[in-house]
Amino acid sequence: MALLIVVTIIVVFPIPYVAFPNTAQDAINNAELMVTSQSILVPSMKNFQLEQTTVFVTNSSERATLDPWDGSLCLAPDCRTPFVRVRVPGAQAGSGTQIQISNTAEIINVTEFNKYTRMALGRDEYNFYLVGKGMLHKGAWPATTVAYNKKITMRGLQHDVLPNHHSPLGKRHQGKRTISIPNPSVSQFELGDLTMNMSVDGMPVGTASLPNVFIAAGNNSIPMTATTNVMAVAGLVSGPYKSGVLPVDVVVTSVIYDGEHIPWYEQALAALSLRLDLGVIPALQESGLAGIPGLGAAFVWADVT
Ligand SMILES: *[C@@H]1O[C@H](CO)[C@@H](O)[C@H](O)[C@H]1NC(C)=O
Ligand SMILES: *[C@@H]1O[C@H](CO)[C@@H](O)[C@H](O)[C@H]1NC(C)=O
Ligand SMILES: *[C@@H]1O[C@H](CO)[C@@H](O)[C@H](O)[C@H]1NC(C)=O
Ligand SMILES: *[C@@H]1O[C@H](CO)[C@@H](O)[C@H](O)[C@H]1NC(C)=O
Repeated sequence: MALLIVVTIIVVFPIPYVAFPNTAQDAINNAELMVTSQSILVPSMKNFQLEQTTVFVTNSSERATLDPWDGSLCLAPDCRTPFVRVRVPGAQAGSGTQIQISNTAEIINVTEFNKYTRMALGRDEYNFYLVGKGMLHKGAWPATTVAYNKKITMRGLQHDVLPNHHSPLGKRHQGKRTISIPNPSVSQFELGDLTMNMSVDGMPVGTASLPNVFIAAGNNSIPMTATTNVMAVAGLVSGPYKSGVLPVDVVVTSVIYDGEHIPWYEQALAALSLRLDLGVIPALQESGLAGIPGLGAAFVWADVT
């Protein structure tokens, strides 16, 4: 009898101890992470502030506690090179619970992070992975290590990035001297001061600056000041663009936040093809320069509705 009890204890007890980590890992594997809002703030060369709300979606009715863990972001398909590291706070792993990240995210591979930024700003939809390891607790069970390897799908800022395709830099509203940037995604971007080169049919016509740009979710109306070469513009208006509306191709030349160039935004934005349809007749008239080639003078674009 004594022998049987000893055998039973040895045989029965190890089973749940072995099974529990597997069950816990299965529950993590079967859960989905849905990012419901994300803000990339205070950008710098090395890091940024990440504010992200993620909802844990699972069909399991089990609840467990997840300890804080160090998460890395990487890109599909191979996920070989993590590009950002961020501390993920602890959470209850039950369906519908929120994980709120509010932490500094370190950029650990600039090349890969540039790719990510380009997708977030330029694609209709993009994927990345959140990977790492952390501890899971459940009731009286000993804590167990679980591995995270979550594919996250998010909507990007733009439908298409094709040369001369309709761009997110739309028409300005008459008289307001603003450009509209629609943002259908749940991501928000603090960019800083943008400067741009403007050209028409490959001919430089001037530069534009947008101070303190913050792209919120939804529609954005952002002030823009454009300085143009009057002779170039007058030439276009008296030539092929008699309507006074110029199709201006815009190339972002610098993104500066807090006095520092932000190369990952510069490279991502420079790769996008942006176009503005701008009316220049009212501005030419306002500045009394219509028909008169200015001598090094500059003026601000007017808008077209
Ligand atoms: C939950 O179950 C439904 C229906 O079986 C399934 O379509 C869905 O993908 C499941 N979700 C998760 C997170 O497992
Ligand atoms: C960064 O990622 C690229 C792949 O995009 C890789 O070739 C490079 O070795 C990585 N750099 C570092 C420092 O890990
Ligand atoms: C953004 O603007 C578009 C077009 O003007 C409009 O259809 C849409 O409802 C606006 N979205 C929001 C969130 O205001
Ligand atoms: C911007 O325009 C200036 C003057 O035309 C030119 O020298 C410079 O190379 C342009 N930069 C980019 C990134 O196109």
